[in-house]
Amino acid sequence: MSALIDTLTRRFDQGIVAAFGDEHAGTPPVLRRSNRADFQADVALGLGRKLGRPPREIAEALVAKLDLAGLVEKVEIAGPGFVNLTLTGEWLAREVASAAADPRLGVASEAPETVVIDYSSPNVAKEMHVGHIRSTLIGDALARVLEHVGHRVIRQNHLGDWGTPFGMLIEHVLDTSGGDATSLSIRDLDVFYREARAKFDGDPAFAERSRRRVVLLQGGDPKTLELWRLLVELSTTYFEHIYERLGVGLRRRDVCSESFYNPMLAKVTDDLRAAGLLEESDGAECVFAPGFTSKEGKPLPLIVRKTDGGFGYAATDLAGVRHRTATLGATRLLYVVGAPQQQHLAMVFAVAAKAGWLVPPARATHVAFGSILGPDKKMFKTREGGTVKLADLLDEAIARARAILEEKDPPHLDEAARREVARMIGIGALKYVDLSSDRVKDYVFDWNRMLAFDGNTAPYLQFAHARTRSILRKAGEAGVASGAVAVRTPEERALALALLGFGDAVAGVAESLQPHRLCTYLFDLATATTSFLENCPVLKAEDDAARASRLALSDVAGKVLARGLALLGIEAPEAM
Ligand code: ARG
Repeated sequence: MSALIDTLTRRFDQGIVAAFGDEHAGTPPVLRRSNRADFQADVALGLGRKLGRPPREIAEALVAKLDLAGLVEKVEIAGPGFVNLTLTGEWLAREVASAAADPRLGVASEAPETVVIDYSSPNVAKEMHVGHIRSTLIGDALARVLEHVGHRVIRQNHLGDWGTPFGMLIEHVLDTSGGDATSLSIRDLDVFYREARAKFDGDPAFAERSRRRVVLLQGGDPKTLELWRLLVELSTTYFEHIYERLGVGLRRRDVCSESFYNPMLAKVTDDLRAAGLLEESDGAECVFAPGFTSKEGKPLPLIVRKTDGGFGYAATDLAGVRHRTATLGATRLLYVVGAPQQQHLAMVFAVAAKAGWLVPPARATHVAFGSILGPDKKMFKTREGGTVKLADLLDEAIARARAILEEKDPPHLDEAARREVARMIGIGALKYVDLSSDRVKDYVFDWNRMLAFDGNTAPYLQFAHARTRSILRKAGEAGVASGAVAVRTPEERALALALLGFGDAVAGVAESLQPHRLCTYLFDLATATTSFLENCPVLKAEDDAARASRLALSDVAGKVLARGLALLGIEAPEAM
């Protein structure tokens, strides 16, 4: 689209200068898609106000000077002064052919930056909860999109692997297994955590031992460290397995956990003190960042060092900002973390800025998201009221997708193919439902809706893609030449216009960090593709030229759908 828009913008600029004089050069034409025509330009409204003339008159004067020969076949003035434009089929066809020949399918590259994306970041010895699931999916899609537009993306899994809970966890290992944590199984960890917690809350002697154990851990006691490492290792292996099943690009090398920052915390504190930012408050060392107050209007402290002398979550995050800008050289820091941590992150960013660790061009953004709700519109829980385990969700999604596939009973898919396709649909649906809703809003988890073959769902998009692939298989792909595109029917026109919007859709996500914009785009593209395939015969087209053109359109539609889904981390089966 952008190449098209660029050309139209230039022609409008020339027209505006010719009609109203040089002083109006550079006035934006305010172009947008229209349902009356292909595009509409709203520039006459603003210009009319500026010149004190009726916008319709302005539109007429402008249109009289516009040179759109060969590009636009119909120009109409509508309403108060909208200029409606219907592009020529030839121009659309040329643009589609050039996007199809472009390995990037019309997506432009941006000036590269180093971007750190902090995402997933679950806690050791705990199941990933709904917040971690969302962070994992949204973060991964953003990493893919930003990488695709040319940035150097550094993924950071800020694993929660340090702090007071490890005292009780290690004590509980010692109590239950005589120090042999190797017998702990991964799926037990959540239960294990709850048991330890219950003991900690109910048994003062255990609580005291746990506190001593934290001191031992922080002091580097070898036996304690060994047990701690075992717990971390068990969890890391479990998380890795989940990421692999999900097809999420997080690996062990991306883990940069809380304990990693441990050796840096003393210096962080010293430097804050040297900068005159550190204050004592109730025995804790804190920074008061201006503008942050409690409900009662009292200044809120960001606690760097707690009363017991230990460093907390905030200290680690401050060290993290510094590491990411100073050592990793990032200028854009993204934190894909649930909305409840909004204030914490805002304070961390403010303090880091004051300390000089986050200065322009470097900037940090909290990529916040809402919750997943159950059918009862309350927090998503299992039927028993427990945390929903991601591994169980994956199993169920795939099983449900398989059942739907069995019902459809596609004759062209054998057992092995069905298993693969069910996996892609199930996982795709789970990811898509998360990515397609406005990120900051809550959404209701509904299996039937997310797995439906119509509507804004992964299976609908995957099916549209598979249809294009099926036609191309039948035609033999040698017959596809992208130069052959012709745009004649309304469905071909709608498809061409949709295809040309891919670059803008991807750029929009890179800028706004809202994956749902790409989903909406892909849904519109899938709708245009489906309607094209249903109304324009491809293999039985009226002549060879129409057949070649429609094969080329099917091909590029399939490619854009697959590329778009891939940017969301979703696979597209060749047949469904
Ligand atoms: N582990 C944290 C949690 O479960 C999330 C960490 C987010 N990242 C960060 N740098 N604070 O709530």
